[in-house]
Formats: sequence, C-alpha cells, structure tokens
Amino acid sequence: MNYIGSKHSLLTFLHENIEKITASNSLKHKPTFIDGFAGTGSVGFYFKNLKYPVIANDIQYYSFVVNKGKLFNLTEKNKTKLQNILNNLNNIKIPDNSEISKLSDFFVYNNYCPTGSGEKNRMYFTDKNGKKCDAIRIELNNLKNSEKISESEFFYLLWCLLEAIDKVANTASVYGAYLKKFKKSALKHIELELLETSTSSNIKTSVYNTSIEKLLGDSTFQISTKNNILYLDPPYNQRQYAPNYHVLETISKYDYPELRGKTGLRNYTEQKSEFCSKKTVHSALENILENVKKNISYNNIKYIFLSYNNEGLMSDKSIQEIFEKFGKYSVFTKEYGRFKADKTENRNHTASSVVEYLHCVTL
Ligand SMILES: C[S@@+](CC[C@H](N)C(=O)[O-])C[C@H]1O[C@@H](n2cnc3c(N)ncnc32)[C@H](O)[C@@H]1O
Repeated sequence: MNYIGSKHSLLTFLHENIEKITASNSLKHKPTFIDGFAGTGSVGFYFKNLKYPVIANDIQYYSFVVNKGKLFNLTEKNKTKLQNILNNLNNIKIPDNSEISKLSDFFVYNNYCPTGSGEKNRMYFTDKNGKKCDAIRIELNNLKNSEKISESEFFYLLWCLLEAIDKVANTASVYGAYLKKFKKSALKHIELELLETSTSSNIKTSVYNTSIEKLLGDSTFQISTKNNILYLDPPYNQRQYAPNYHVLETISKYDYPELRGKTGLRNYTEQKSEFCSKKTVHSALENILENVKKNISYNNIKYIFLSYNNEGLMSDKSIQEIFEKFGKYSVFTKEYGRFKADKTENRNHTASSVVEYLHCVTL
C-alpha cells in the first residue's frame, strides 16, 4: 500500500540505529518492540522477523486490520485453507443492476461507484469492483459469524481485501478525492491474493486500535519483557490520516456510516490526531513520555525512538528539548526521497529529498 509517511524505505536505517542504542541484536530474549503509530505495519513486521515480540497500535481501524493480518502466523496448514477460501471469494457471484433488492446492502457500490443508488455517483471504483468488494466483505462476515474462520483468519482475509481494493482505487494515491476519469489500473478487476506474513511464526504479537497517548496512560497495559523499545512514527504535518484513507476505514468497519460531501467522508472527530496541529503537537509528545515514565514499572520501556523529518511541525531542537527532560538523548539522520501524494500539492517544493531524523532517549 502506498501510504503517507510509510517507513518501508527506511527499515535498515531504523534497524541499524535502534540496535546501536539498545544493543539488543545479540540478546537471545529480545525486548518487546512497540510500534505506536503502526500505519501499514512495515516497521513492526520487520522487527517481528528479527524475532522481537511486537505490539502494534494505530488510531485508524484499517491499520488495525492490516497489522492483525501482517502479524498473523500463517502456517502451512492454514495456508491451504485460506487459499481455498480466497479462490472462492475471487469467484463470488455478483448481482447485476436489475437485481436492485440484492444490491441494497452493498455499501461500497451504492456510495463509491458511478451507478450506485447514492445520489453523488462517486468514482472511487468501477461498478464491478465495488460490487465484488461488497459481496466479499459481506461473505467475510458470514464466514466469521458461522465460525468457518477464526477471528485471526477473518482479519487476515480482510487485509487481503484491503490490499486488493487499494490496487484498483481510482485515486491519485490517497482517498481525499477520486479522479474524474477511470485510470488504467482502476479498470483492472479486483483479485485477492494470499499475502505473505512474517517468517517468525512463534513470536508473540498483539495489536491495539487506540491513541498511543491513551494506551500508554493505561496502567493495565503491562509488558513482561524488560528494556522494551517504544517506536513513535507520528504524522508530521497538518494532514490527518482519517480523511485521506476514509474509504479503507469504511470497508474495514463496514458499519454503514453517514457520508458527507462530494468525496463521501465519514465522521472522524474521534480520530483527529494531536500530532497534526502546531498547537497540540509538543504537549502530545511530552504527554507520551510522561505516561511512559509514570507507568514504567508496568510497561518496562527503556528506549523511546521518534521518526520525524525536517519539514514537520516540530523543530529538531524542540524535540531534543523535550527528550532531554526524560533521559539521555541522541539522534541519527538520513536524506531520502520525498513522498509524492499529488503534483499540485507539491508544486511549491523544489527540494527532492528530505532529512529524516531518528531521535532517541534512553530512560
Ligand atoms: C507516519 S504514519 C506511520 C507509518 C508507519 N510507520 C508505516 O511504515 O506504515 C502515522 C500513523 O499514525 C497514526 N496516528 C495518528 N495519531 C495517532 C495517535 N495519537 N495514536 C496512534 N496512532 C496515531 C495514523 O493513523 C498513521 O497511521
């Protein structure tokens, strides 16, 4: 998935420097790696493969689904079962437009496709892809409710659906708007694939769906391993994630929300991030560090890392000042290519690379 702020291309930079500070590469029993702003789960997945127990968390529900899927232990036995289910889902029968009553529950088709019953005739997906997505999504609920699949298998299959529908989305890259004409990739047919999961199948993982401030402030959030690592990768500018990925959120929740406006946004008041406002970002970061310290006897966190870049709302100096209040500070930097969400938005930028910082505090 092409995701704003994904750390996919920075994994070795993160890995090398995190292990430089923690010296945990040589340990037989690794500390827990907490991926607090997990997004696509790329960082947690990488550390799971390095045999670290992983806790992933994100405020968005689609990210919870992706992380549940990615961290799922896909064994040879359930591989065969899930491949058969995926084959059936790929061949699922979809109603045609004359079968109106059968289409009434089809939320994606009705609200995000040109001929759906919603009045806006949005063009996020072709009619055929939208209908197929609905038919599969409804069947996944049936399979789970009839206990033909476990809860973990349900999340794994739903992740496969999210990745497949994202590939045929008719957007520039995020879901803030759809294109007025179907682009080539959006005209392809949606096809579910058996996605790869971690190779470290016996490693403990858990996934949460809340704000990291809340999770760390909760004294029932307890981790038994010692010298744990908290990795923070928050949004770095005003762009909230919820409106940019609202379609994936709705497909994940499938909760028939009320939509507004031309682009069909769902309400996201509860998912606004304090990291997207200059007014609240510093106190939000400080609040996280305070909560870690307050509950240190439960969470056993020793190292906190923060990914941020030179174009973010907080300056590197202000981050350093906050971190130094809590322990020994250090920082690593790397230049890397800019994420191009859309050309119009980037028209004022001339630089083609940004400086990525990895701030660190040892408590
Ligand atoms: C820069 S992205 C993380 C990218 C991720 N490391 C990856 O490689 O895909 C930031 C993420 O933080 C999440 N987020 C924003 N505010 C949050 C909060 N207060 N608590 C937890 N997650 C939050 C967003 O939903 C988004 O997925």
